Amino acid sequence: MHLLITGGAGFIGSHVIRHFVTTYPDYTITNLDKLTYAGNLENLRDVEGHPNYRFVKSDITDSAAMLVLFEKERFDGVIHLAAESHVDRSIASPTEFVMTNVLGTVNLLNAARALWKEDFNGKLFYHVSTDEVYGALGKEGVFTETTSYDPHSPYSASKASSDHFVRAYHDTYGMPVVISNCSNNYGPYQFPEKLIPLFINNIRNNKPLPVYGRGENVRDWLWVVDHAQAIDVICHKGRRGETYNIGGRNEWKNIDLIRLLCRIMDRKLQRQEGESESLIEYVTDRAGHDFRYAIDSSKLQKELGWIPSLQFEEGLEKTVDWYLANQEWLDNVTSGVYKSYYRKMYG
Ligand code: NAD
Ligand code: DAU
Repeated sequence: MHLLITGGAGFIGSHVIRHFVTTYPDYTITNLDKLTYAGNLENLRDVEGHPNYRFVKSDITDSAAMLVLFEKERFDGVIHLAAESHVDRSIASPTEFVMTNVLGTVNLLNAARALWKEDFNGKLFYHVSTDEVYGALGKEGVFTETTSYDPHSPYSASKASSDHFVRAYHDTYGMPVVISNCSNNYGPYQFPEKLIPLFINNIRNNKPLPVYGRGENVRDWLWVVDHAQAIDVICHKGRRGETYNIGGRNEWKNIDLIRLLCRIMDRKLQRQEGESESLIEYVTDRAGHDFRYAIDSSKLQKELGWIPSLQFEEGLEKTVDWYLANQEWLDNVTSGVYKSYYRKMYG
């Protein structure tokens, strides 16, 4: 089995690579990543020496390069995570999101189709997507796999579009595809532009904590290792042509989560109670800010037996411990030093 995992140097991708490389020593795992600002090979230091792991630096928006790579490597399956992933960046520069998330996905579908032709036996194109495609909920309700798409940000619109293309290749060409739509992930190796690592880093450096609006928005948080585990289960047992929602059934209002994080940080850094919370600053709200996400993942639980392994309080504590034990990683990322790692490793 030769598996291509795209975006493996990013946050979730690095956990997926680690999981597959160590769980399936008889698979060959190729990590394809452009190493944008979000791609960091330091995330994979512990697996890069494994004999079944390879890294290819390439860009999924380069259609010719994708055709050549697929023809040469003859992948049996693709798990596609490479994307521009940050909502605030999509508001500032939407076009990059169209290029990578939409065009890049179509390029991979075309390369897979060219390689596999109509012989799809044992093949799989797995597209990793987000719950943001479903739009925003009010105080009640949950997203199911049949909820209509209603994206609001350029990021979620680009992910919705890529999901539609993946389904279209199943319906039109019979390509065996599967899509999963997951809620907010948290854990080690997340780029400190996203809420939890950004706030851990700011608290550590006594910098303000910018809370958008009144902090009333609600997200459903999932431990990233549980996401990687769900991807494994869906990859091997998921019904082709289907969609699976992945979530933690773990809703938190932003301000409640931030206060919990502040309390943990005060304790870990031996600061006075309330010291971290005093860094909170309410700032202008994100444009088009989705109010609430909540995921119903009962299809995945009933059909494939997956359940999240960690309670949020435990996971958040583990996350804080990891960032505090890996302050060099945080410093390298925030200073940009991590970019030299590729040159050192690969010339
Ligand atoms: P990330 O931003 O941390 O990593 C993205 C990776 O893709 C980086 O390594 C980057 O270098 C690579 N990449 C970007 N453009 C590329 C290109 N043109 N060619 C090749 N590689 C490229 O993202 P993440 O948070 O790990 O998310 C991974 C996937 O999971 C995305 O598809 C995202 O939409 C989805 N997702 C994320 C979350 C979340 O909470 N972070 C939740 C649900 C779904
Ligand atoms: O739901 C899944 C999605 O979760 C993924 O598809 C995205 O790739 C991922 O980035 C994440 O999107 P969010 O926009 O929910 O995540 P973010 O960490 O940017 O923000 C979480 C919440 O915190 C959101 O309501 C906005 C708020 N926030 C965020 C930042 C960065 C703040 O209040 N202040 C901040 O500085």
